[in-house]
Amino acid sequence: MAREEIKKRREEPLQSASGGLTNTPEADSNILKEKEENEEALNLRPRKLSEYIGQGKVVESLGIAIEAAKKRGDAVDHVLLYGPPGLGKTTLAYIIAREMDVGIVTTSGPALEKGGDLIGILTHLKKGDVLFIDEIHRLPKAVEEYLYSAVEDFAISIVFDKGSHARSYRSRLEKFTLVGATTRAGLISSPLRERFGIQRALDFYTIEDLCQVVKRSASLLQVPVDEEGVREIARRSRGTPRIANRILRRVRDYTQVRHHGVITRPVTQEALLLEGIDEEGLTTLDKRFLETVIVHYKGGPAGLEAIAAVLQEETDTLVDVVEPFLLKAGFIIRTPKGRKATDKAYLHLSASGGPKTAISEEQLSLLTRHK
Ligand code: ADE
Repeated sequence: MAREEIKKRREEPLQSASGGLTNTPEADSNILKEKEENEEALNLRPRKLSEYIGQGKVVESLGIAIEAAKKRGDAVDHVLLYGPPGLGKTTLAYIIAREMDVGIVTTSGPALEKGGDLIGILTHLKKGDVLFIDEIHRLPKAVEEYLYSAVEDFAISIVFDKGSHARSYRSRLEKFTLVGATTRAGLISSPLRERFGIQRALDFYTIEDLCQVVKRSASLLQVPVDEEGVREIARRSRGTPRIANRILRRVRDYTQVRHHGVITRPVTQEALLLEGIDEEGLTTLDKRFLETVIVHYKGGPAGLEAIAAVLQEETDTLVDVVEPFLLKAGFIIRTPKGRKATDKAYLHLSASGGPKTAISEEQLSLLTRHK
């Protein structure tokens, strides 16, 4: 595959994000808006480690690996990054490439359907390049097996024909750095996991770090926002910079249309009411999850499949997107029998005018007494 084609593949995810829409004027404007936001998101990404906010230990150890590799004139060791979506795994892959002054090719586990898809990419990598595979836990087994010798020996064996006519041809590859990203470290096979010299988990950001992210983005977007406005956005971002940036853009739009001025705390509160993002940053889906456990399953324990069935959502969405923050923020706990709602979840839902059935007066008085 020519380098141009690889580049084109890289751009596809942005272009195909709205691929299902046809060309009604509304759809066209949706596509445009999405494209603009994607471009904006790319522009907001830190490009150097020194610009990267948060994830202190991860950034420090990647910095050391990069500096050491540069001194040796070598490629950085393979890196596995795991953690919930939106915490900066892709951004770090781009930063590694930029700091090493090498190219980057990005793809994802499900996009690599056959061994040939991977071989095409591997054989075109230049010395030191970064190959970023997102959702690496979804790599088909046959493709994963090609990756073993590629990352370990920087060589691949290509088999032609079958049975007695089978011939194999060993092709050498340039030394490259594989950066794998996953939301589910547990689903990566151990032979693959063991081949990553650097394995780091990204954790949710603190409010302080998110305040820095919001300030940086607001300044890049040239959006005026006061200290309280910054804090309100940070507080409601579910510990996730991608969400903080998304909220910032929504509040910017709202302010431009309704207030024509600085983003303040009250304006942020108004805008987020409209967006369905509550005081704790919970979305409608987060709250439906809690309501299901509390109302449908009487507080739990409830199995994930059962919750997914009531919500009519994919279990993967619940595991990757919804649950990690609810667990981290203490709204649910995981027990061997399933998920249970915590006191905090009961109190939050009733305080935010949740379903009347979510909590009885008696339960509420028990909870408040026991606090
Ligand atoms: N924008 C999104 N994530 C960021 C981060 N970790 N640091 C700086 N800017 C960001």
